[in-house]
This record gives sequence, structure tokens and C-alpha cells, in this order.
Amino acid sequence: MKIKNICCIGAGYVGGPTMAVIAQKNPDIKVTVVDINAARIAAWNDENLEKLPIYEPGLDKVVAEARGRNLFFTTEVDAAIEAADMIFISVNTPTKTYGQGKGMAADLKFIELCARQIARVAKTDKIVVEKSTLPVRTAQAIKSILHNTGNGVQFQILSNPEFLAEGTAVQDLMAPDRVLIGGEQTKEGLEAIQALVNVYSTWVPAENILTTNLWSSELSKLTANAFLAQRVSSINALSELCEVTGADVNEVAIAIGKDSRIGPKFLKASVGFGGSCFQKDILNLVYIAKSYGLHEVADYWEQVIIMNDYQKRRFASKIIQTLYNTISGKKIAFLGWAFKKDTNDTRESAAIYVADQLMEEQASIVVYDPKVTAQQMQSDLNYLNTRSEDSNSHYLTTVSDPHEACKDAHAIAVLTEWDEFKTYDWQKTYDAMKKPAFVFDGRGILDKEELETIGFQVYAIGK
Ligand SMILES: NC(=O)c1ccc[n+]([C@@H]2O[C@H](COP(=O)([O-])OP(=O)(O)OC[C@H]3O[C@@H](n4cnc5c(N)ncnc54)[C@H](O)[C@@H]3O)[C@@H](O)[C@H]2O)c1
Repeated sequence: MKIKNICCIGAGYVGGPTMAVIAQKNPDIKVTVVDINAARIAAWNDENLEKLPIYEPGLDKVVAEARGRNLFFTTEVDAAIEAADMIFISVNTPTKTYGQGKGMAADLKFIELCARQIARVAKTDKIVVEKSTLPVRTAQAIKSILHNTGNGVQFQILSNPEFLAEGTAVQDLMAPDRVLIGGEQTKEGLEAIQALVNVYSTWVPAENILTTNLWSSELSKLTANAFLAQRVSSINALSELCEVTGADVNEVAIAIGKDSRIGPKFLKASVGFGGSCFQKDILNLVYIAKSYGLHEVADYWEQVIIMNDYQKRRFASKIIQTLYNTISGKKIAFLGWAFKKDTNDTRESAAIYVADQLMEEQASIVVYDPKVTAQQMQSDLNYLNTRSEDSNSHYLTTVSDPHEACKDAHAIAVLTEWDEFKTYDWQKTYDAMKKPAFVFDGRGILDKEELETIGFQVYAIGK
């Protein structure tokens, strides 16, 4: 079966870049990305490519090539569903904030709404692809909704989880380690799998396209994130041990990473992982394990989150203690707010939680981030509900110039590993700060010795 028309529901960090690359690589397939968020769609259609709603290196070029040719962004959801022969569901699946499974289970409200909308609108047979990260066996629920419409339309459900990382999304999509496609092991299911394999085959080598049953595919995505996050928590747990024993976490990371069974990636100690996926997906895994009565399995994975929360608190406490246990009224400059470099995404960013803890001590925080807006920072803080919106904007302000952020500050805290921070004129920064001038490097990107030679008092995680 040859796919001619694709619809993707959800124009977010996954749907936007993924569909842009599929469209670029398949000029003969019409790809329509739909979203209920009209402002987001308008931004995807903005003539000025700097205004795309998602910042990813290289994304503007891909969009420029395909948009208007075979890539379209619209809020006309029904029309796009009806015209498509393959529909990707790429909507958000946040952690539930209410009811059973609150704070742990994935909220599948948006997924179910999509399934119901597809069921209502579809008049011809469709392949429905789960692109969102979903609890294992969600395809069963989607299938049940789709198959009970009584209108005779046939649906095949595939799981095709996305493994891109924000900040390197385009690169990851262009040369994925693997593409995973799960489907029913029936004649129709295998045909649907092949149809999606054909879409990816235009640029992904056959050996990198894995096909499995539905449940293996769904579970592999949650598990991949759990394993990645576990590495971060493992090295972060060791960072504190390094600090008290005189070992250097970077040296330890290199030493263990040289072991080919362990490997060098994802062993960078930091203030903790953030992002919309790791925490949510592990909590989801924990919830699934619990719901099957596997309490030891659940506790094992939950520890990854507990360690991560501890690392964020530990960093904020270190700042407070070092500044003589009193930071009320002191200016603390934050370099970075995004959860990692090269993205404007701030979901679950460590910076939010560190700021919140310092604001409880009435510090005055001034943030500079190259890609995150002041409005976004305030909305991240307001979401926590720790204090009033007025208090949040009183204690935390945003500037567009890093030097202004650091001027007259008692301390600088590096919360995101943006490359530009490494190249600042640190002597000039030192001269403009209050003394003693403290630097807290939460990402281990600055040259500690060089800063100490200038006169800074430097704390770097794991040193
Ligand atoms: N962000 C990542 O790095 C990443 C990586 C891999 C997988 N994922 C998974 O992909 C999924 C999407 O993540 P994201 O970061 O792109 O989320 P996102 O919040 O950036 O985007 C989701 C979009 O879906 C839209 N939407 C929700 N319900 C809708 C509906 N009924 N009709 C039309 N549009 C609707 C929202 O308005 C939003 O724009 C999640 O399940 C996530 O776990 C994310």
C-alpha cells in the first residue's frame, strides 16, 4: 500500500519537526499537520522562519523547503483527518494531575479525544499511528474506540514512538539510530507496518527500521527513556560522593565510559535532568508496574526520580549555604532557563525548581536565556503554585543581555549548558559583580581553574 496523504494531529515538539522531515524526504506525500492551538499553527505558517514556535537547529531550512509544497499546517482538523490515509497522533500525554493515578499515570484524555474524532470523521480506511509516548497496551483502547463506530471503516493501529531528543531533533530525525514500528501480527497489520516502513525507507537504511508487535514497541519507548534517565541519576548520585571524597566526577565518567560495556554517553553530572519526557515516562512506568502489583519493579525505577529531585534541591541548598545561609535580597544571576541547550523548551527544567527554592528565601533572581521568553519563565513559576503571580514577577526578572544579568550580582548559577556561556568575557563579568563573586556551575561547562585565577569562588557539581 502506497501512502499518499498523511495527517498528523499535534504540531508540537514532536509532530512539527517529525512531519517536516517526512515531508522533505517524501515530496510525493502530502503531509498536513493539525493542531487546536491556533497561535501555534499561525507561528508554523509565519513567513519569518525565526518565529517558528519551536527552536531546533536546522529546522527552519527543512520547513522552508517543504512548507507550501507538500507540508501544510492548519487548524482544520476534520478535513485533514478525512483526506488522510495515514494519521499520526502526536498530542501531549502529560502526567495526570487529578483522580486515580494522579501525579503518576499518563493522562490519555487528549489521545482518547483524537481517537473519537477520527472515529467520527473517517469515511475511508485509515492507518492510525501512535507517535505520542503511551503506556503499554494503549493501542487496545484506541482500537476499541475506533472499531465501535459501526460505520464499516477499517482501522489499523501502529505504534511508532519517537526517539528524537530536543536540541538535536533534526539531526536525530535525519539519521535515527533506529525507527521502531509495532503493529498487529495479522495480514492487515503487517501490510500497515510495511506502508509505514516505506515512508521511512526513503531516507532511513533498512537495517535501522525495526518492526515488532504492538506491545514491544509501546513498552520500548518508556523503557528507553527510563534507561537514559537512570544513567543521569547514577552519575549524579556519584557526583556527591566525588565531592566528599576528593574524586572528580568528570574523571570518573571518562574512566567508566571507556568501558565499552558502559559507553561514554549520558554520563555528564548536572543539576538534574529536565524536559517533558523523562520524569513523566518513568512515573508512567512506575504506575504501570504498580498496577500489575510489581512493587519492587516500581520502587526500583522510582528511585531514578527521587535522585533527580534530590540533585536539584542539593544544588539550590549549596547556593544558600555558600552565600552564608542568607540570600534574602541578594541578586543571583541565572544563566539559562531551558531544560537543555539548543531548545526553547522549559518543561520540567531544573532551573524552575532551583529558582523556586531560592525565591522561598527571598532571593532576587535575574535570568538570561538566549531562547526563552520572560513570559514563559513566569508561566513556569506560576504553574508551581508556590506563591502569587505578583510575587513570582517580583522575585524573578528576565533580561536579554547576559552582562546585565550578572552586573552587581552576588552569585551566578549556570542552569543550562548553552555554548555561548563558555565564551563570555569572565574577567569583565567578575569586575562587575559584588565580591566575593560566586559561580555555581550546574552543568560543568565552565573552566573552573580559569575562573578561580580571575578571583571567582567556584562550585562545580562533582568536584
Ligand atoms: N518532546 C520530546 O522530546 C518528545 C520526544 C519523543 C516523544 N515525545 C512524546 O510525543 C508526544 C508529544 O510531545 P510534544 O513534546 O510534541 O508535546 P507538545 O505539547 O509540544 O505538542 C502537543 C500538541 O498537541 C496539540 N493537541 C492536543 N490535543 C489535540 C487535539 N485533540 N487535536 C489537535 N491538536 C491537539 C496541542 O495543542 C499541542 O500543540 C508526547 O506523548 C511525548 O511524550 C516527546
